[in-house]
Amino acid sequence: MLTAFGAFHVPPTILVGGGVRREVVAQLQKYLIQRVLLVTDVGMMQLGPAREIAALLDDAGVSVTIYDGVQPDPTDQNVAHGLDLFRSNDCQAIVAVGGGSPIDAAKAISVLTTNSSPLSQYAGYHKIPRAGAPLIAIPTTAGTGSEATKVAVITDTTQDVKSMILSVHLVPTAALVDYELTLSMPPDLTAAVGVDTLTHGIEAYVSRKANGMTDPLALSCIELVAKHLRKAYREPNNHDARAGMMLAACQGGMAFANSSVCLVHGMSRPIGAIFHVPHGLSNAVLLPTVTQFSWRASITRYATVARLLNCCPFHTPDEPAAESLVKGLQQLNTDLNVPRLRDCRGVDEARFRSLLSKMAADALTSGSPQNNPRVPTAEEIVALYESAWSLGG
Ligand SMILES: NC(=O)c1ccc[n+]([C@@H]2O[C@H](COP(=O)([O-])OP(=O)(O)OC[C@H]3O[C@@H](n4cnc5c(N)ncnc54)[C@H](O)[C@@H]3O)[C@@H](O)[C@H]2O)c1
Ligand SMILES: [Fe+2]
Repeated sequence: MLTAFGAFHVPPTILVGGGVRREVVAQLQKYLIQRVLLVTDVGMMQLGPAREIAALLDDAGVSVTIYDGVQPDPTDQNVAHGLDLFRSNDCQAIVAVGGGSPIDAAKAISVLTTNSSPLSQYAGYHKIPRAGAPLIAIPTTAGTGSEATKVAVITDTTQDVKSMILSVHLVPTAALVDYELTLSMPPDLTAAVGVDTLTHGIEAYVSRKANGMTDPLALSCIELVAKHLRKAYREPNNHDARAGMMLAACQGGMAFANSSVCLVHGMSRPIGAIFHVPHGLSNAVLLPTVTQFSWRASITRYATVARLLNCCPFHTPDEPAAESLVKGLQQLNTDLNVPRLRDCRGVDEARFRSLLSKMAADALTSGSPQNNPRVPTAEEIVALYESAWSLGG
């Protein structure tokens, strides 16, 4: 039986399709905005999308202040810099252009314009009292789905912890979901962010908080990934595959934000915070191991996922179907040339082993593992990290 569920939150406006980024001016005009902070990163400035959006705004007579200092896995310090610029230039709204990092930083800046406590006090669920400045999110990866979620993940630099903040006030005012911006993603980025999308779909669907609103979105996300991810990886200029993955990312975001992520994300955040492994990659290296640990606790749901991902013939009975998912996910990582955990840049074995207890404790503190079909103990999480480390012989 489906669980009861609370409020379902998504952006009031979501535009999807090639070229919709150009609607940014019309979206701001709805709110009579004349001065914006454009939040992005250096890569997006150099590649062009952020400059293109700034030029569109400039041509329309909107004054633009650019903050391009957001780093991958954005920090509380990035947020503080952006907030200073917002205030000193008397901005009225924010436009975020980039992957999950600039969008998450922009969300945090937005709510700090109207809420006075330090960001760290808002970590967790529904702690932000007031709505922030309007935010238009324009994603360039497919992706985190952050453009459609009420979540921001910001690294607390005093503790080396990626803090998850969830609040309805983090939902962007509008999401402009334009796959054309993802055509420039190199294959390794396409793979990592694509497996992040898949992990959102799977975790939203197997979560203890899965519900009748999120299930269709999660299943569609998984199906779109099955159809398009390998193609987008092999053929970066394939518009159909890019459009499919962009839609999957947005749907995955809406699904997990209104259900939840689970153990993969819980264990992946400490790897990101400590070793700076990109978010999608740290999910990808954990997904098969965590699925092996979890599938028996929700056989029917994992079987459905396995069938959608073509891990087994469609009429395979539930138990062997669910079990086939583990190999199917390993094969996906192989096809996408995802490195093994121990081969990820920046992950030193001695440091990894010395920090296993901290990582397990941080994972549990985030609350995500408690949504998993099989809820692990701290010792089991340590064992899962060890097993992901030795995966692949
Ligand atoms: N808020 C949410 O709902 C949510 C969900 C999942 C993940 N996240 C967070 O999002 C962050 C990761 O975001 P991400 O994976 O999108 O990557 P990212 O934003 O960190 O970007 C990674 C790199 O890719 C580059 N890049 C972005 N778009 C590109 C493009 N089109 N072409 C070429 N290069 C491009 C960027 O310049 C950057 O160097 C993590 O901090 C993660 O925790 C948030
Ligand atoms: Fe994610």
